[in-house]
Amino acid sequence: MNILDIKNLNLSFLSDGKKYQALYDINLSLKQGQMLALVGESGSGKTITAMSVLRLLAANAKITSGEILYRGENLLSLSEKEMQKIRGKEIALVPQDPMTSLNPLFTIGSQLLEIIETHQGLKGDDAKKVAVEVLEQVKIPDAKNRLKAYPHEFSGGMRQRVIIAMAIACNSKIIIADEPTTALDVTVQAQIMDLLKEIQKENSTSFILISHNFSLVYEVADAAAVMYAGRIVENSDAYELFKHPKHPYTRALLKTLPDFNSTNLQSIEGQPPSVKDDFKLCPFEPRCKEKIDICKTEIPQCKNIENSCVSCLLYK
Ligand SMILES: Nc1ncnc2c1ncn2[C@@H]1O[C@H](COP(=O)(O)OP(=O)(O)OP(=O)(O)O)[C@@H](O)[C@H]1O
Ligand SMILES: [Mg+2]
Repeated sequence: MNILDIKNLNLSFLSDGKKYQALYDINLSLKQGQMLALVGESGSGKTITAMSVLRLLAANAKITSGEILYRGENLLSLSEKEMQKIRGKEIALVPQDPMTSLNPLFTIGSQLLEIIETHQGLKGDDAKKVAVEVLEQVKIPDAKNRLKAYPHEFSGGMRQRVIIAMAIACNSKIIIADEPTTALDVTVQAQIMDLLKEIQKENSTSFILISHNFSLVYEVADAAAVMYAGRIVENSDAYELFKHPKHPYTRALLKTLPDFNSTNLQSIEGQPPSVKDDFKLCPFEPRCKEKIDICKTEIPQCKNIENSCVSCLLYK
């Protein structure tokens, strides 16, 4: 059984008295111990997909249909109280800016100990021992003394490590990391990715890793899904997706990467879609370099090709 299955998830926003659909029939699955990357341009719906899982959506957002099954249980039908037991414990979030999850007024140690006391039922020296262990697992040097430090005494990368340590302390089964490294410099980005990979292997934690950065996730992801205009346009194992991209959008996105094609760097022409666009047909058609006649008349459906799922009429 998958640890997480998102099935036919549709989400809309109410804005200025109008309803905008922002997610269209999202289907994703995450296996136990797997790292799934969610990639796509800004505004494609990565964060709202992740926040749907945690049920931390804006007040004007409404999930109109679909299921989110965590170990077979539909999170969307849980009460808020039941959801609180899942959130931050079973499923943890590592946000883009770690300061949003750390309280600047309390030491790292007291914040970590509170989690360990609540979630593991430990007290005193036993709790402190675990706090040091988790900080060591995320490679914070001199962990024992660093418990006394306040968040502002840590660098951005170190703060992100603390957030990851908190997720480990709760023994979270799924960690959702939403652009966990965008605020960090390049070498630190790679170190945090390596750390996530290590935790995945050692603790068998499952990950949803959200990123703009294909080259960063390519190194670590097992599976990858590409989002465009609130839809999943391609979904497959990471190697296949990066080495043999099938959707024209995935191909275009890969060409924008210096690491993948340094001699012929391109940007994707045309306007990225807005949530206010109401596409009747393929949403990438206006920008697509590989479009064919039927793109003007038919709606693409997700099709299984080898081990990929691709939503493109080229494969009809
Ligand atoms: N509360 C809201 N009300 C109306 N529209 C919203 C709201 N929150 C998000 N959106 C819209 O939903 C779409 C998807 O947003 P989302 O934050 O998931 O994008 P993203 O893929 O995470 O982008 P980024 O890479 O910039 O983080 C965007 O067009 C965004 O403007
Ligand atoms: Mg986002």
